[in-house]
Amino acid sequence: MKKARDLKELDRIFGKYLGKKGKITILLKNLKSLPKEKRKRRGKELNLLKEFIEKEIEEKAKEIKEKLTAEILKKEKIDITAPGKKISPGHLHPLTQVQRKVEEIFQSMGFSIVEGPEIETEWYNFDALNIPKDHPARDMWNTLWLKPQNQKSKIKNQKLLLRTHTSPVQVRYMEKHNPPLRIIVPGRVFRHEATDSSHETNFYHIEGLMVDKNVSVANFKAIIQKFYQKFFSASAKGYGGPAEASREGGERQIEIRLIPCYFPFTEPSFEVDITCLACGGKGCPACQKTGWMEMMGAGMVHPAVFKNSGLTPHQYIGGGWQGFAFGMGLDRLAMMKYKINDIRLFYSGDLRFLNQF
Ligand code: DAH
Repeated sequence: MKKARDLKELDRIFGKYLGKKGKITILLKNLKSLPKEKRKRRGKELNLLKEFIEKEIEEKAKEIKEKLTAEILKKEKIDITAPGKKISPGHLHPLTQVQRKVEEIFQSMGFSIVEGPEIETEWYNFDALNIPKDHPARDMWNTLWLKPQNQKSKIKNQKLLLRTHTSPVQVRYMEKHNPPLRIIVPGRVFRHEATDSSHETNFYHIEGLMVDKNVSVANFKAIIQKFYQKFFSASAKGYGGPAEASREGGERQIEIRLIPCYFPFTEPSFEVDITCLACGGKGCPACQKTGWMEMMGAGMVHPAVFKNSGLTPHQYIGGGWQGFAFGMGLDRLAMMKYKINDIRLFYSGDLRFLNQF
């Protein structure tokens, strides 16, 4: 009995001696066949034995139960002083982080952040930007047009599309605001093209516009150089290439070069190159040994764009008001900052990628 390990075993022992067919029960039942004197004595002895067994079983049962309770308490113990389990709060997408950094830098130079609609009219996306119908320049933008039955355009005879750039916001903004003005327009844009490591049908642009008295290409160059130096600086999280060595006061030394180029909404127009981030300008495979990397399109705002925004050109041209505009891919900027080689990774939703930022 003392060796019993659990209540089941105790039950079996109880049954063996005191159950209906237990040894002692049977002996007690058989008492009546004994002569009176013997029966009395034997009865007393058997009852003592019965009580003894019952008591022993009871004690053992108590011991087993206590042990069991102690085990459960130990297993299910709650340490109310233990710190709670932290909920992982997630973090901003790398593209959002880069967008915020770009906004912060331009805001520090007096630019406001402006947004526009993703569904745009043909007028704002093309015509107002000096890209008339059937003009070959439209081929620069493979466009996703919306079906006429889905259109709710308030502007009569206007075809709707998914904007191919955020440049239309230049016109939308100048219709409502007079110069001087400085804005950047971050936002989602769409292109009807095949995807590969550097092309997506959906990506992000940042448009810039500054109109003021006597604004020149020199002002543009200074502002944009400052932007890239701050954006790719050592203190900004991300890229840390060899060119890091040549930075000054925490800011990366980055040179700018303007290459003549064509955009319908600017005149003159240029492509903006910056010192190759991988080699610092010496020439390497990343920059095809040129020492330069192409970063954005830009130029001086075309008089036709001012006119289409409801501003009288003569007030601006020759009268002192003029401005520059620029446009760049946010995805490309992020890819260069973090050395990412495939644009599709941003839209894959793959946590193994996203958790690195
Ligand atoms: N919108 C152009 C594009 O989609 C980028 C661009 C180039 C914007 C030159 C500008 C500019 O404002 O002046 O590629």
